[in-house]
Amino acid sequence: NQYTAEIEAFSPANADELEAFRIKYLGTKGLIKDLFEQFKSVGPEEKRVFGKVLNQFKQMAEAKYTDLKENFNSEIENSKSEIDLTLPGNGFEVGSRHPLSLVQSEIVDIFKRLGFVVAEGPEIEDDWHNFSALNFPDEHPARDMQDTFFIKKNSGKDDIALRTHTSSVQVRMMENGKPPFRAIMPGRVYRNEAISARAHCFFHQVEGLYIDENVSFADLKQTLYHFVQELYGEGTKVRFRPSYFPFTEPSAEMDISCTICKGAGCNMCKHSGWVEILGCGMVDPNVLENCGIDSKKFTGFAFGMGVERITNLKYVIKDLRLFSENDVRFLKQFKTEM
Ligand code: PHE
Repeated sequence: NQYTAEIEAFSPANADELEAFRIKYLGTKGLIKDLFEQFKSVGPEEKRVFGKVLNQFKQMAEAKYTDLKENFNSEIENSKSEIDLTLPGNGFEVGSRHPLSLVQSEIVDIFKRLGFVVAEGPEIEDDWHNFSALNFPDEHPARDMQDTFFIKKNSGKDDIALRTHTSSVQVRMMENGKPPFRAIMPGRVYRNEAISARAHCFFHQVEGLYIDENVSFADLKQTLYHFVQELYGEGTKVRFRPSYFPFTEPSAEMDISCTICKGAGCNMCKHSGWVEILGCGMVDPNVLENCGIDSKKFTGFAFGMGVERITNLKYVIKDLRLFSENDVRFLKQFKTEM
């Protein structure tokens, strides 16, 4: 009959059409249900003929429906696993090196080219290596100059502290080797200061030591002058001011012409045109003797700089705390420096 042809030709475009098909033929108020209702009222003779036809029709309609439904389901499955190549890809962020590491390795590289090697030592130090060997007198206020974090404090000689400078590594190097020495000591150091935009309880240093026969203050000046030209560019001016450190004599602090305003006057150099970048001096003969080096035969120079300070002068970072907060918005600005 007409329905058979209609069912056979049926080809739904979407799931809604298929559902309409189910309701029309197979639903509780559908055509087949209706035909079965009518079937009840026919005579026994007709029932036999009709029954057969009706059952075939019903099976045919059901088979068509299950078939179509399966087709649809597998189509949906297929479309799920297909990759849409027109969509933009998932971006992923590449990490960046910390500005302090960048600047520290820049400093280290410059001194390596001059023949300096890198030396390291412990961050927890004893009194001898951090103070006594470096000519800090016992109970002298010079020890307070550095706001030490003590881990164990009693008599002085066997105090244990977080190192306040990497000069302690210089002592270890001189004790354990024979001159000449030409080394730099990068590392983290600790001082008991209230944390603010301008101070932190830890920071990073690169110190240096050069000991040999006939090393003079002229060698110190030339080495540091060359360093500054390499780091901040040709033409950067330097000046030395007399200073005091227990472990050097004479001692000096070195300023450079302000890297931000090139000497014209800005907030960084407080309109003086100069900024201080490091402390230095000729190693005190007492320090050489403390470390078992003949101070009649050998002389040398030492210097120490703060990596945060050097970094500020390159990138004008106004708040020291940014260096240790791990804020990605700050850190990712240094990506191009890889
Ligand atoms: N150790 C000094 C400091 O931490 C720096 C310095 C090193 C000065 C070597 C002179 C010579 O302040």
